[in-house]
Amino acid sequence: MGGLDGLDKESFDPEYFMMLLLCGNVMGIIVDLKDLVHGRYPQIICYPRFEYEELRRRIVELRSLNVEMLEFSGRSEVAGLPILGKGCVSLVLLAHLKCGRAALKVRRVDSGRESMNHEARMLHLANSVDVGPKIIDFTENFLLMQYINGFPLREWLEKSDPSADEVRMLLREILEKCWRLDAIGLDHGELSRASKHIIVDFSNRAQIIDFESSSTNRRVSNVTSICQYLFLRGEIADIIGKMNIKPGRKRLLAALKAYKRNPSRMMLEEIFRVCEVTV
Ligand SMILES: Nc1ncnc2c1ncn2[C@@H]1O[C@H](COP(=O)(O)OP(=O)(O)O)[C@@H](O)[C@H]1O
Ligand SMILES: [Mg+2]
Repeated sequence: MGGLDGLDKESFDPEYFMMLLLCGNVMGIIVDLKDLVHGRYPQIICYPRFEYEELRRRIVELRSLNVEMLEFSGRSEVAGLPILGKGCVSLVLLAHLKCGRAALKVRRVDSGRESMNHEARMLHLANSVDVGPKIIDFTENFLLMQYINGFPLREWLEKSDPSADEVRMLLREILEKCWRLDAIGLDHGELSRASKHIIVDFSNRAQIIDFESSSTNRRVSNVTSICQYLFLRGEIADIIGKMNIKPGRKRLLAALKAYKRNPSRMMLEEIFRVCEVTV
């Protein structure tokens, strides 16, 4: 149990331990690829309908990605096993490679997508402007990328007790990353559900994830969508508002309108000023 090293009895705090466990900081159940045919693992690799042939093909793909082991840990649960996350098109697991751990996105067998190609292309493009977890490799059914160890935005805001300045810095980073996506014509597509799609790591850096619904053929609306979400309506806007970061509605709408007409760096700076994230 290497992950438990350093935890002595006196300093053992069950709540802290639980948090580490949920975040994947304590090692979960580690399974060699050859053992994925046993127990409940096939139900996860071929979620939600397991077929032997499909499982066999997928294990071959995992080998081609140089995945050595899978680790079952994280805050979601499928088939009674902990995993990093569960979405409409995929499950996300922790994978062990020779060089360390990575997040492995596993295409659900019932997903509308034929392969991971589109998402891999979109993530690769986002990476070109330093946005999104770094892509490592992909196959038809898997996407291997940098593991972002942290909390979803809402939990970070509620549980990590950040100072107003830390929140401002984070909001600025999110806006900055959305601007970079706008600038290359890549529309994320799911920033109106940003809580699930922004992870804040333990250095308080924000990362945008899930480029599955992204497109280069739509009009980009990353900055405008995220501003609505962060400042104008919904639970996150309420939480941020309570921290006294509450841009005037009229001024922000006017700044967003001007940005939409002319999505330039200058207009973005005006949004920074209105949102008071110029720190
Ligand atoms: N690179 C990553 N590092 C850590 N956790 C991740 C990573 N990518 C996804 N996750 C977790 O998995 C969940 C589902 O991933 P997501 O990409 O949104 O899948 P879907 O496309 O099926 O919606 C996320 O909400 C997040 O909790
Ligand atoms: Mg998602």
